[in-house]
Amino acid sequence: MRNNRASGWKKGAVTVLIAFACALAGCGDEVNSAATSIAFSHDDSAFQTVSDDTRTVTIGFAQVGEESDWRRANSDSIRDTFSTDKGYNLLFEDAQNDPDTQISDVSRFIQQGVDYIVLEPIVETGWDKVLQEVKDAGIPVIVADRQLTLEDDSLYTAWTGSNPDLEGKKVCAWIHAFAEKNHLDESTFQIGVIQGTIGSSPQIGRERALREAAAKYRWSIAGSEKGEFTQAKGREAMDALLKKYPDINIVYCDNDNEAYGAIEALQAAGRKIGTDIEHGEIVIVAFDGAEKALKAVQDGLIACDGECNPLLGPKIEKIIEALKDGKTVSKIQYVDENIYAQNDDISSVSIDGVDYPVTPVTDELLESRVY
Ligand code: AHR
Repeated sequence: MRNNRASGWKKGAVTVLIAFACALAGCGDEVNSAATSIAFSHDDSAFQTVSDDTRTVTIGFAQVGEESDWRRANSDSIRDTFSTDKGYNLLFEDAQNDPDTQISDVSRFIQQGVDYIVLEPIVETGWDKVLQEVKDAGIPVIVADRQLTLEDDSLYTAWTGSNPDLEGKKVCAWIHAFAEKNHLDESTFQIGVIQGTIGSSPQIGRERALREAAAKYRWSIAGSEKGEFTQAKGREAMDALLKKYPDINIVYCDNDNEAYGAIEALQAAGRKIGTDIEHGEIVIVAFDGAEKALKAVQDGLIACDGECNPLLGPKIEKIIEALKDGKTVSKIQYVDENIYAQNDDISSVSIDGVDYPVTPVTDELLESRVY
């Protein structure tokens, strides 16, 4: 699809040069194909310029915002991957967590005539109209990170990213295994939830997993507060949860930055963080697995962290390179993710018959962490 529409103005430039070469050489009707091959094989610098320019791929990238460490690592991965020296022209738009702005960003990419659109959607819904316009313009869309809910899945070419339901199931399975190992009565669990951006797939998936586990293991979800995936809002949310539900003994944070805010709030309130629930300690679990969070796992401040991998640039590039070569790509491509805890007391968790090892956080792991 992409090769057919490959930058109309570039094709035009080639045609003009071919016509010019023909005029000089006195070519007849037969000459177009011969001139084309001259244009792409000749060493002459004018022809070389056209050839080089034709290889530039313009990518419109619609980013969510800058709410978290995860997001910053993700933006770095995109910028590093789609660099000018590798032949990319990256149009990077940051919607600052405003879904309407993000729809406008995508719409503008159509006017700008990009070759591909890479979309990391803030929320799952509201995309049908603009993505239909993108499809009508013949621009392939690669969705990354978060998921979409669409009437028509042909509105995007491929998706790559994390599986938030599975992330949530792993962390909940860890909580259950931890309870069994320590002979805790799970019906005493009072869980406070710090929610990520409402309507985003990580918020939906991670909390869906929590609700399912709560029903299965008789946990009580005391209440939820919005944390918007940020540290500042995470702290406010934790303060609010403590006021409303002082008996909370587990805090389920939809990401690491919210957990940092929760830690601040709990420490300021003089509450103890740890895994000794029976003696009043509060268990924190979170998602992402950023280096700072893994240090908090090592220090016993976050009990369990479900990884969400932000390094999506190379994966997206592979998809785009395959599409450029006219190949078909798998529509859905999940990335591999781990689960982390302080030690190997719980060595693995099992979800739907598959065992996922729990990785203990060591100094070596922290040193090798790239985000
Ligand atoms: O979509 C990925 C989520 O968004 C990460 O868990 C969170 O940190 C980010 O802001």
